[in-house]
Amino acid sequence: FIRTLSSTAVRNAAIKHITIIGGGQMGAGIAQVAAATGHSVVLVDTSDDILKKSIKGIEGSLKRIVKKKFADKPEAGEEFVQKILKNVSTSTDAASVVPGTDLVLEAIVENLKVKQGLFGSLDKVAPEHTIFASNTSSLPIADIASSTARLDRFGGLHFFNPVPLMKLVEVIQTPMTSQATFDALHDFSKALGKHPVSCKDTPGFIVNRLLVPYMMEAIRLHEKGHGSKEDIDVAMKLGAGYPMGPFELLDYVGLDTAKFIIDGWHDMDPENPLFNPSPMLNKLVEEGKFGKKTGEGFYKYK
Ligand code: 3HC
Repeated sequence: FIRTLSSTAVRNAAIKHITIIGGGQMGAGIAQVAAATGHSVVLVDTSDDILKKSIKGIEGSLKRIVKKKFADKPEAGEEFVQKILKNVSTSTDAASVVPGTDLVLEAIVENLKVKQGLFGSLDKVAPEHTIFASNTSSLPIADIASSTARLDRFGGLHFFNPVPLMKLVEVIQTPMTSQATFDALHDFSKALGKHPVSCKDTPGFIVNRLLVPYMMEAIRLHEKGHGSKEDIDVAMKLGAGYPMGPFELLDYVGLDTAKFIIDGWHDMDPENPLFNPSPMLNKLVEEGKFGKKTGEGFYKYK
């Protein structure tokens, strides 16, 4: 009965107020898109300094969009940016903002224990109807949800970098996610102007399950001396129509992220050669070369 009741509550309430935990690239990108589509957003992180950076990032991204959209009307463009920014507030105290929210979306560090701790504590203060969702790239949603008592109102919402431009959202349903919750997350993705696809709670969902082994295979090809990274990148761009080659994309996504994903899957399924670690990737990460964000990965950046 309780499950039916809470499912009904979820179905009746469109997601309007959202709390995003994590002001990094993904969290800030999601906040930007939600604010631009008229949602009220609270962005949460551990310090005001981080949050200031997140807001600056959102502003910068909006200005890039405005530069084209309002090319001959800069004042209207500025007004557009300010109107969207008004929909975003920030906080360093998730527990105090969650009581007013329809959706808590987490985009923090890829660490199961940390995510479980966060959701476990928010579960106690969030309203009955509030849906919880994780933007994890590779951890099982069911494992994250297990720290809460709202398994029916827990799902995955996986976005892609750069969030303002990439049209896809993977909506992940665990065996415990209610249909009403799935529908609400699906409708929310559409309200963001995105295209949702339905995923099961399997490693990497759809995109990363295909993309990460492909990028790892590109590294292996290069490690074996079968192609320079420049040639492999050009080949995949001009021969397969990809907007970025695998090494450019690895640098863009972050080598630390790629390593985290592949190591996790290798531990889970050591016999699967698609999930084999790469000495070259490990070395770059050990040297702190995480890609674009640190100024160097497979390539160097200014
Ligand atoms: N915000 C706003 N606008 C942006 C932007 C951003 N963050 N990034 C790019 N743009 C817009 C701007 O209008 C820019 O023009 P500007 O430089 O004059 O401001 C315009 O896009 C063109 O950008 P670029 O010249 O930098 O380059 P591209 O034309 O190649 O487009 C791209 C950039 C859309 C990122 C394209 O290269 C692309 O689609 N790359 C593949 C990205 C991808 O595969 N992402 C998925 C990664 S996997 C993932 O995220 C999952 C995770 O779990 C690991």
